[in-house]
Amino acid sequence: MDILTSCPDCGSLLDIEYEWDKLPVPSSMREFESRWSNRRDPLDFSGVWRFRNLLPFAADKDIVTIGEGQTILQQSPVVGKYVGMNAGGLFLQYEGLNPSGSFKDNGMTAASTHARMVGAKVAACASTGNTSASLAIYASTAQLFRVVVFVGSGKIAYGKLSQALDYHAKTLQVLGDFDDALERVREVAGERGIYLCNSVNPFRLEGQKTIMYRVLESLNWQVPDWIVVPGGNLGNSSAFGKAFTELKALGLIDRIPRLAVINAAGANTLYQLYEQQGVRWDGGMSGDSVVETFFSEMDSENRKASTLASAIEINRPVNLKKCLRALDACDGVVRQVTDQEILDAKAQVGAGGFGCEPASAASVAGAKRLRAEGVIAPSDRVVCILTGHQLKDPDATVAYHSGNTALFEEKLGMRGVKTAEFANSPVVVENNLQKIIEVLER
Ligand code: F0G
Repeated sequence: MDILTSCPDCGSLLDIEYEWDKLPVPSSMREFESRWSNRRDPLDFSGVWRFRNLLPFAADKDIVTIGEGQTILQQSPVVGKYVGMNAGGLFLQYEGLNPSGSFKDNGMTAASTHARMVGAKVAACASTGNTSASLAIYASTAQLFRVVVFVGSGKIAYGKLSQALDYHAKTLQVLGDFDDALERVREVAGERGIYLCNSVNPFRLEGQKTIMYRVLESLNWQVPDWIVVPGGNLGNSSAFGKAFTELKALGLIDRIPRLAVINAAGANTLYQLYEQQGVRWDGGMSGDSVVETFFSEMDSENRKASTLASAIEINRPVNLKKCLRALDACDGVVRQVTDQEILDAKAQVGAGGFGCEPASAASVAGAKRLRAEGVIAPSDRVVCILTGHQLKDPDATVAYHSGNTALFEEKLGMRGVKTAEFANSPVVVENNLQKIIEVLER
């Protein structure tokens, strides 16, 4: 059996469409709430499969779940103030609470389920770290298939690398960056019939739709004004657009929120194409030549992505088209933020919430920019998606708080980070009661 992720003729990624009129769809999103009372059933416990009627591609018996999606939405006054919102207007969706510590588990439960449905023996992915950690945890807990992960040899955060190793995934450090690793894994998967679990896999995106269902559920099924999400390979943004388009078509919501996708300035392909060059979805038909020229210039100038937000250090986002479709459906905008803005925003997320890894804070930095531009109004309700757990990348956090910009450069390759405005530096003190009290009273 061939497992395709893209059209053999045009090369575009495959997409999943359901014949909704033949499927049991609830008449209201509130119906899903009843499943909370049946939490001993692993499918109803899962924050993904609780909504299985909205991703109905698998029979219950095939579903692979490890309790993903127990994530929460919280209002954050500290971050709201930083962004410039009115009181109560800023919400953080903590996807770092997933079993492997990032939003990837929402999609990997779906991809693992499909892998089981097709009897896959080996699954693979390329990763900046979180996808590999997620695939590896599903393989280690489900024991249904073996896993090989391809990581770039550059800046993978140790928290993430340690997960792939600890979950016993075969780990290949490709001498190249993420874009190279993804190209290679797609080739190898095609050659060897290996099941591919990157977000080129449309089932991944089906699972990631549920992040939006949980956001709506937490807001008592009220649609917020904005969803703000970091953009790397653009799987999340694509999935969110699909989720809202489907919910609207099914009459389960009455309006679609606006979507803001935030690139790191050092990995800003989407920003360049969408905001600078005006590329639009346009039914999937136009913009191809602009996009091709953009990538061929990128290759000829040997431009590589470079940002301390290593999770989104991606120059060749595979879900570009699907993301353009999402931006079209959600009246979307794209912004880029510097590494400095990302680290400052991350420190505010830590000071006023559970914390997050650098890439995740791009959402908050992006919201702040959009607020300053007046695109987001102070009275809006804004949900920033925090995609990964704070402990994924402690090096960046410690470097920032110790205010050691030389360390940024040397250890993390952080360029352009000059200040640590919100640093909470550790205080060195003598091993002596009196001295400690003196420090505390300062
Ligand atoms: N935030 C985090 C923490 C991520 O790990 C990623 C992607 C993104 C945001 C971007 O999401 O690709 O859906 O736009 N990480 C991938 C990986 C590429 O390999 O772990 P996207």
